[in-house]
Amino acid sequence: MTAEPHAILSAVPMPIVVTDAHERVLAVNPPATGLLGKNQVGRHVVTVIRQPPVLHAISQCIAHGVPTEARYVQKDHVHETLYRVICSPVETGGVLVSFQDVTSQETAGQMRRDFVANVSHELRTPLTAIQGFIETLQGPARGDQAAADRFLATMARESERMIRLVSDLLSLSQVEGEERIRPTERVELRAVLTSVLRSLAPVAEAAGVEMKIEAGSEELWLRGDPDQLVQVFTNLAENGIKYGGDGGRVVLSIAEVARDPILGSPAARIDVRDFGQGFDEMHTHRLTERFYRVDSHRSRAIGGTGLGLAIVKHIVNRHKGRLRIESEIGKGSCFSVLLPMG
Ligand SMILES: Nc1ncnc2c1ncn2[C@@H]1O[C@H](COP(=O)(O)OP(=O)(O)OP(=O)(O)O)[C@@H](O)[C@H]1O
Ligand SMILES: [Mg+2]
Repeated sequence: MTAEPHAILSAVPMPIVVTDAHERVLAVNPPATGLLGKNQVGRHVVTVIRQPPVLHAISQCIAHGVPTEARYVQKDHVHETLYRVICSPVETGGVLVSFQDVTSQETAGQMRRDFVANVSHELRTPLTAIQGFIETLQGPARGDQAAADRFLATMARESERMIRLVSDLLSLSQVEGEERIRPTERVELRAVLTSVLRSLAPVAEAAGVEMKIEAGSEELWLRGDPDQLVQVFTNLAENGIKYGGDGGRVVLSIAEVARDPILGSPAARIDVRDFGQGFDEMHTHRLTERFYRVDSHRSRAIGGTGLGLAIVKHIVNRHKGRLRIESEIGKGSCFSVLLPMG
């Protein structure tokens, strides 16, 4: 190759290998050296790119003079990078082989598939239960009023769960959609917590949990979306009652932080603390994943869908804040939301 095409090739950010008509390497740009190693020029591609699908694509491209494609996987002990390899015929009879990194697209696709599988699974369980009860009521239990009452109560509970799942999914997609739009309203935090306390009072009472707010008397204003912030603290306080209720207390507290080191600004810190069973630290970083539950059997029995904290995370992100989770087995958990002020 002459100097000029070489210079151009060096500037291309993706790995590129050029071969002659006999599948010998004519040129390799620096990203391709990074991918395939040094001193490849002059060698046969078989010794440079060791993956048969790519070698096949190269020989097909040379033989027929048409573009071909293959996948190339690079593994080290930590990562797997996936490339879409495109072989384009060059006028000289050789091939230009380019490597496009498609790992993130593949990961996103996999996440979408997992999500659909999870949703389907979550809906199928209650639907199967309801279908079973209907069949029993139509068959063996026909005319048995006591059984009918019992089954109908369970069916009502299962359908309530499905409605909750669907409305959580809608909230999640809504908050995800708005994540990049900064909230513009001004919100007073004590008022937010008071309204959360009021709406959860019946739930707390039914669970025998005392719920209270600890805060100074001064108002604390910040930029935020009032409905979404109510949702954040409702989800956290509800979890405190559901999973930490055996501690008997859930405390919501507000404090001002002069400068949060991670946010790099003054912040309002709202702690939602319970004194229940807590959980092992290993769960902490996964709790905000959709459908993740510490004890899925117990959570499901309580009626949880595993979406509450995922919604919390997106809303907190939208507010440019952060969520901190601490828990100790046997002592309880503390979910802190830090929201930038000013
Ligand atoms: N205060 C807490 N104490 C102990 N475990 C908790 C607490 N909060 C959350 N968890 C655990 O985290 C999991 C995820 O919580 P999340 O709120 O996302 O879902 P959920 O409560 O199961 O369902 P949803 O909130 O959608 O009804 C719960 O299933 C529970 O195992
Ligand atoms: Mg929850």
